[in-house]
Amino acid sequence: MTNATTNECADLFRFFWSWTSDPLRVAAIAPSGESLARVMTREIGPSDGPVLELGAGTGAFTRALLAQGVRETDLTLVEYGSNFMRMLQLRFPQARVLWMDASQLGQYKLFPEANVGAVVSGLPLLSMSPRKVMSILNGAFGYLKPTGAFYQFTYGPRCPVPRPILDRLGLKATRVGGTVRNLPPAAVYRITRRQPFGAVRRTSDLAPAD
Ligand SMILES: C[S@@+](CC[C@H](N)C(=O)[O-])C[C@H]1O[C@@H](n2cnc3c(N)ncnc32)[C@H](O)[C@@H]1O
Repeated sequence: MTNATTNECADLFRFFWSWTSDPLRVAAIAPSGESLARVMTREIGPSDGPVLELGAGTGAFTRALLAQGVRETDLTLVEYGSNFMRMLQLRFPQARVLWMDASQLGQYKLFPEANVGAVVSGLPLLSMSPRKVMSILNGAFGYLKPTGAFYQFTYGPRCPVPRPILDRLGLKATRVGGTVRNLPPAAVYRITRRQPFGAVRRTSDLAPAD
């Protein structure tokens, strides 16, 4: 067995184990495959750095971002699972790995200015409340530059961010691809500001969504 195969088997086992202990948080029995990782990252390049990844898991999208030429030092990886977080620190020693809930993004100043070129999200938005989804998007768009994009995959038939939330935050979602070579098959959405130079409203300005 090659080292790569051994790593893949270890990741499968780690993922499955994490899923059995917290199915709603992990929300997948296996890490995303290479095909989905390519669709998620193919519009992103070195000039988009810094790049923020949410729910990085075992690093399937992180590896694809590096293959796209994004510098490891330009990566900030957010992960809530402590076992995944430690593994990401070992695998990507030059990236900034943050052990935190992505819905708290807006409560910190993770970047000195809104200069992030892309956000890549592996978060299970479908198993989260509308309020939590709104906090995540609001926090992420607070760091994205005006033309920056938020990439999200889903196993479902439509964008996992409900239309009322997109409307309230002044965002639009475009399906940019999909793959059947993933377990299960998945689609990828690019979420951007409707008016690139308008600001996204703060969560505190909005009435509760749920
Ligand atoms: C479906 S898995 C995707 C993992 C990886 N990106 C992939 O595609 O293989 C969801 C990941 O999001 C993480 N996660 C779930 N809720 C989170 C939250 N609120 N904040 C940060 N990470 C979270 C889980 O621990 C898990 O690693």
